[in-house]
Amino acid sequence: MPELETCSGYKYLIESAYERETIKSMVRPAIAQVDTFKRYPETEKLELPRSWQLKEARIVPLLQNRRSKRTFDPKVIDLEDLAFMLWASQGITAKSGCYTFRTAPSGGALYPVETYLSIHRVKDVSPGLYHFDVENFCLDILTEHDVSDKVTAACLDQKFMAQSAVTVIWSAVIRRCMSKYGNRGMRYIFLDAGHVCQNLLIAAEATGNSACPVAAFYDDEINEILGINSNDETAIYTAAIGKKLSK
Ligand SMILES: Cc1cc2nc3c(=O)[nH]c(=O)nc-3n(C[C@H](O)[C@H](O)[C@H](O)COP(=O)(O)O)c2cc1C
Repeated sequence: MPELETCSGYKYLIESAYERETIKSMVRPAIAQVDTFKRYPETEKLELPRSWQLKEARIVPLLQNRRSKRTFDPKVIDLEDLAFMLWASQGITAKSGCYTFRTAPSGGALYPVETYLSIHRVKDVSPGLYHFDVENFCLDILTEHDVSDKVTAACLDQKFMAQSAVTVIWSAVIRRCMSKYGNRGMRYIFLDAGHVCQNLLIAAEATGNSACPVAAFYDDEINEILGINSNDETAIYTAAIGKKLSK
């Protein structure tokens, strides 16, 4: 569809894609590094209380302990845990007229993010590629062939990913958002994906699992595994999940 291909938001997406053949020769613009913290050394300070640590005792450990983990216990994870992570990431929580609302916010309630799962080690579930059907809260079985090695290779050969029990792959249906918001819609897509991923990471922590978000991948290779066409839908984010190693 030419109208999408001419948009600067879409062009940026294509220009910033990684390809196996060209990644080493990609020119990275020389942009000066800056500090991680913004500091106002001269200003007066207002101390913030930490008394909420006791009041919010359920959520504090989940946020405090979440860490990107790249080693996993080789045990299977339970389907119930995976289902909870999926619900936490994008489950439907309310309906109003023709709108449905979900656990994670979405610009204009358009929900451009789709969820795929490369299942490797989930109890009583065949390894393979699945799609999360949000509407019916079930998984579409796309193939019962294990694709985890292919996914690992497509994620810049980051070897730890092959040890995950599940790798979640999020794609964006670009038109869902850009048909309403134009180029600005591209921003909203990535903001949405951040919300979805963070909810899943917290749910992983809550169920005794670990996860690591991964955004470094060869776009065309991941899209090919998912069987999607980057003109309509393209992978934007992934997360490797596995049972947390006991200390
Ligand atoms: C957008 C994004 C992309 C990331 N991509 C990768 C990746 O490709 N490989 C990886 O090992 N970690 C990746 N990470 C994890 C970061 O390295 C990690 O979040 C960071 O070191 C901070 O550590 P923490 O998550 O434990 O707080 C990514 C994180 C984010 C938010």
